[in-house]
Amino acid sequence: MKNILVTGGAGFIGSHVVRLLVNKYPEYHIVNMDVLTYAGNLANLKDVEDNDNYTFVKCDICDFDNVKKVFIDYEIDSVIHLAAESHVDRSIKDPFSFAQTNIMGTLSLLQAAKQYWDFNWEDKLFYHVSTDEVYGSLGEEGLFTEKTSYDPHSPYSASKASSDHFVRAFQDTYDLPTVISNCSNNYGSYQFPEKLIPLFINNIVNKKPLPVYGKGENVRDWLFVDDHAKAIDLIFHKGKQGDTYNIGGFNEWKNIDLIKVMIATVDRLLEREVGESNDLITYVKDRAGHDLRYAIDSTKLKNELGWEPSLQFEEGIEKTVKWYLENIEWMDNVTSGNYKSYYDEMYEVKG
Ligand code: NAD
Ligand code: DAU
Repeated sequence: MKNILVTGGAGFIGSHVVRLLVNKYPEYHIVNMDVLTYAGNLANLKDVEDNDNYTFVKCDICDFDNVKKVFIDYEIDSVIHLAAESHVDRSIKDPFSFAQTNIMGTLSLLQAAKQYWDFNWEDKLFYHVSTDEVYGSLGEEGLFTEKTSYDPHSPYSASKASSDHFVRAFQDTYDLPTVISNCSNNYGSYQFPEKLIPLFINNIVNKKPLPVYGKGENVRDWLFVDDHAKAIDLIFHKGKQGDTYNIGGFNEWKNIDLIKVMIATVDRLLEREVGESNDLITYVKDRAGHDLRYAIDSTKLKNELGWEPSLQFEEGIEKTVKWYLENIEWMDNVTSGNYKSYYDEMYEVKG
């Protein structure tokens, strides 16, 4: 029996990780700790919420006393830590909350794990889920490997880099068993529509402007979220203690090219005229400190643990667009209220 604490399980990637673990390992108890920020949504986990091996606990990872209580109450023996403030644009507006959650929250979890496990490290693991953004920005050539030096540029990536350093410091100083993975951009169902793909799908459906930052020439390396969840499962069970694994799909897209694929897919599925929504493309002021290119080399994960993405991008994007078209209610719920005013303020686009 394993009692696994998953933090941030009500968010985009966390909900896919929780679903995978709850369904695949009935002998494990999955405890989902989430404070339910604007990005956390229990509707993302409707299909597993009644499972016997699943428990939701509303708790702020920065609240050390409560975090420790959760370790004690549920006899936690491993952690998969995903809770974070995750959106770069928000970090530019409000860096404090990113430092608080991503750095202090991670430290609070590490300290709680260390104290509760009390140096009895057998069968314990603290798995920290991080991002490729800690490596900074690439030029036209090259890929991020696990040996690439850290060079974060946004308050978001600086806070994630700092959290990675704390995890390694706990491994080196106290022997706390840890593992870290750094993944590229994810896409798929249940992603909050502040991120490029769900935001643009929703805007195309509703014939709203598509705010392309700068010239749309920045490059991202896209991975289907279920493939990330499978990689996390594999690294959690088979990864080497103290090690780092990069996760990515070898799937680079210039933003503007990806946006054209989304337009073509939505228009086709809605039986609109081909390219009808191209006019929605609206070039806006660039993101401050906008990293030019991310691209992950995940060869180590393939060679050592045998992981490869299972889905080709064409299939993944088709599935994703269909999911958002079929789940209008989910989208309407998350785009109402506070989020709507954030959107208006960020893009000064009144739709
Ligand atoms: P998300 O914003 O969709 O979800 C974050 C979750 O964390 C939400 O459920 C939120 O309620 C919860 N949370 C935030 N602050 C909290 C706090 N103080 N206490 C408890 N819960 C809190 O994020 P995501 O895109 O699913 O990313 C999950 C993790 O994966 C993050 O650590 C992120 O850095 C990392 N990551 C994301 C991507 C990506 O493309 N989205 C890629 C690589 C790595
Ligand atoms: O690389 C992993 C990271 O990917 C994760 O760590 C982050 O949590 C996640 O948010 C994501 O960061 P990005 O900044 O790359 O993702 P985002 O979807 O915000 O933007 C993708 C690209 O699209 C980026 O070059 C900025 C651009 N963009 C984004 C938005 C929201 C636009 O042109 N217009 C937009 O409105």
